[in-house]
Amino acid sequence: MLTSAVLEDPRYRVPPAPPAASGLAWLRSRVPRFCDGPEQARRRAGIEHLLRSLTVIPNPVADPSEVLLGALGLPAESADDVDLVAAAYQPHTPQSADADAALERLVAACGGRSDVTAARICLLVQAHAAMRALLAQRRAGAAGPPVPVTRRIAPDGTVVEVDLADAPFGRGPHTCPGRALAEAWAAVLR
Ligand code: HEM
Repeated sequence: MLTSAVLEDPRYRVPPAPPAASGLAWLRSRVPRFCDGPEQARRRAGIEHLLRSLTVIPNPVADPSEVLLGALGLPAESADDVDLVAAAYQPHTPQSADADAALERLVAACGGRSDVTAARICLLVQAHAAMRALLAQRRAGAAGPPVPVTRRIAPDGTVVEVDLADAPFGRGPHTCPGRALAEAWAAVLR
């Protein structure tokens, strides 16, 4: 396992996502999480702009994904689809037709395929997995980063794991843009 310093080394890239017309492959091809360089910066600016425009009030007894859906003007019932998509978001996790169908329902709920739709779904799924991990950790009374490991492609083309023990929200260009919200939510759980 490599240290978090590689997250600031441009020779280590995120897993790439080639252009795709639909499903999870489409989502990955349009979010900052699976690209690097100027395109990542452009997509990330869209995410940050969207996040700034939202009013999300942390609530210790509410489901973070339902609260985020509400802030985005989407129905709480879409939480099941967010869960299905989040489970298949990373390319190394099991892919399925069910997850692709859930993604398409979220795209429809957002009004169709666009940069803004990709940014909205990206926020939902990134927040969902990480906040779920945080809540599970709190219930178990466990310490350490809620998301313990991430991945990069090393200069020799191999996939490497990166230890997030000293960087629970990452480092470098892909640092978590939801950190302030996550910390505000963690604070009300205490
Ligand atoms: C305890 C809660 C959270 C933890 C521990 C966490 C952790 C992380 C980490 C480690 C990364 C970087 C991954 C990498 O570089 O490989 C990341 C990225 C990201 N996070 Fe979070 N996160 C949390 C909550 C949230 C929330 C609430 C949101 C949105 C509202 C969010 C949105 C994102 C997005 C969009 C990215 C991708 C950024 C990019 O690739 O440029 N996260 N998160």
